[in-house]
Amino acid sequence: MDSSRVSAIKVWRLGEPGAGTDVSAVCRVCLPRVCTTWLRNSYQSVWDKFKSQTTSNFHRKFYHYGTFPEGFSWGISSSAYQIEGGWNADGKGPSIWDTFTQTTDTIPDKANGNVACDSYNRLNEDLYMLRALRVKSYRFSLSWSRIFPDGTRKSLNQKGVDYYNRLIDGLIAYNIKPMVTLYHWDLPEALQKVNGWESAEMIDIFNDYCDFCFATFGDRVKFWITLNQPQTIAWSGYGLGNMPPNVVDPGYRPYIVAHNLIKAHAKAYHTYDDKYRQSQGGLISIALNADWFEPADVNVVREVVTADRAMQFQLGWFAHPIFKNGDYPDALKWQVGNKSEIQGLPQSRLPSFTEEEKNSIKGTADVFCVNHYTTKIVSHVTARLQPHSYEWDRDMREAEEPDSPTTAIPNQKAVAWGLRRLLNWIKEEYGDPEIYITENGAAVEWDDSERVMFYKTYIDEALKANNLDGVRLQGYTATAFMDSFEWLHGYKFLFGLHHVDFTNPDRPRTPKYSAHYYYNIIKNNGFPFPDDEKMLYGHFREDFMWSTASSAYQVTYTFTAILLLRS
Ligand code: NOJ
Repeated sequence: MDSSRVSAIKVWRLGEPGAGTDVSAVCRVCLPRVCTTWLRNSYQSVWDKFKSQTTSNFHRKFYHYGTFPEGFSWGISSSAYQIEGGWNADGKGPSIWDTFTQTTDTIPDKANGNVACDSYNRLNEDLYMLRALRVKSYRFSLSWSRIFPDGTRKSLNQKGVDYYNRLIDGLIAYNIKPMVTLYHWDLPEALQKVNGWESAEMIDIFNDYCDFCFATFGDRVKFWITLNQPQTIAWSGYGLGNMPPNVVDPGYRPYIVAHNLIKAHAKAYHTYDDKYRQSQGGLISIALNADWFEPADVNVVREVVTADRAMQFQLGWFAHPIFKNGDYPDALKWQVGNKSEIQGLPQSRLPSFTEEEKNSIKGTADVFCVNHYTTKIVSHVTARLQPHSYEWDRDMREAEEPDSPTTAIPNQKAVAWGLRRLLNWIKEEYGDPEIYITENGAAVEWDDSERVMFYKTYIDEALKANNLDGVRLQGYTATAFMDSFEWLHGYKFLFGLHHVDFTNPDRPRTPKYSAHYYYNIIKNNGFPFPDDEKMLYGHFREDFMWSTASSAYQVTYTFTAILLLRS
């Protein structure tokens, strides 16, 4: 590292412009004494707050009885490509997931979403199940290429619009709020042909699609999510390249694509805000995926800073511009900027926003929507410089949390306590926003009681965050509504609360134990203190006389004995 660069590193102090509560702004390369002092004196990080629980499983796992505030939004989720099928029915155009699954052999059993749960033809069954579950909201996504087969308005497919109208009307009739994701990864293939999200032209194209959806469905849809997990789109689609459009370019294109996604989100937000909010009165946000990152050693400042950096690289990449100041977190700017310089590049691989863009990006979400599944343990490493990669830009190593149950998916351990910490971190980092958990769930090997345990423990941690830590949690969404096409895992790992028999052309659905369990949580609005325990606990009458007892002989004897011992 060039030493002039090191000395140029700004050491933020709390209260200084730009400092905020961003721990990672303290020291990018390493000024440990300053970091330590700064951390101890000025900032109580979420890792610090929960430090005493790190070695005590009792505190970390204790069960908290209580209920959520009235009106809490209990929901369940799906997405178009995962459940609809009807991949070319009634004029629908192909999406990049149709093209990918129909040509790749990397998905178990060469599975695809051609039929999936056949929800396109089984709408009434889906509505019936949602009603039986008594959810307050249903999160689903619109298939862009079902509405606009070539991605643009001129190709409008009325039958696709009719399908979503029937779905939305059915939900409203059952008093279930539609929570609609505009883009859940299934880009119209025709738009990919003109470079998809790599092209800044997508910002206007996406905006026009959103505009149409607001105008068409917004009289009934009051909760919009522009993009689902943009970090996955950018990294899996353009870095790892294991998801469509399968571009393997880990050092550059994820940053370019993310840049376009953020601007596309902001533009759609403003369209809603300017043209529809007043008459329709809904909310609009973006669903960001966030793991929780726990430092390998919470007593080592560098490790805590690494955990914060991990948060910034995954969640902050999108949340910082949108919920803070219109710009990327310092951690990204420093890491990618410094690495790019050492790599001899003329400029940072991380693009920058103009002041005008920053102003139009900041504040473009009404509530914070987060998808959460697992927790990882991270430690600092000075990562390799080649190949250029978002992954190495982070300077860290990830490990599994050792003390938690596994789920069917490798790397996705069920670490319920991580959710409470994540919610606390969001509260601290982004100025106490209202938060919706827009996805949370697990694939389990075969025993659904493990899924029940997952929900019991994760929802209880959400309850602790709400009731004990003052996190303003407004809603919780279980994932998934039913077994469905699980992307790269095909139908091998399933998240559903309802079983679907994929061998039967009728795709019969059956509620699992977890559906019954979730129904009860919804009914009770959480975990009220159970009746059979109540008889063991309770209070005496107001005027009950509390006292203590002694007797002269016993007390005098003890007193004398002490005196004798002392002398
Ligand atoms: C996140 C995705 O948004 C969702 O579609 C998927 O089912 C879950 N992850 C589980 O992998």
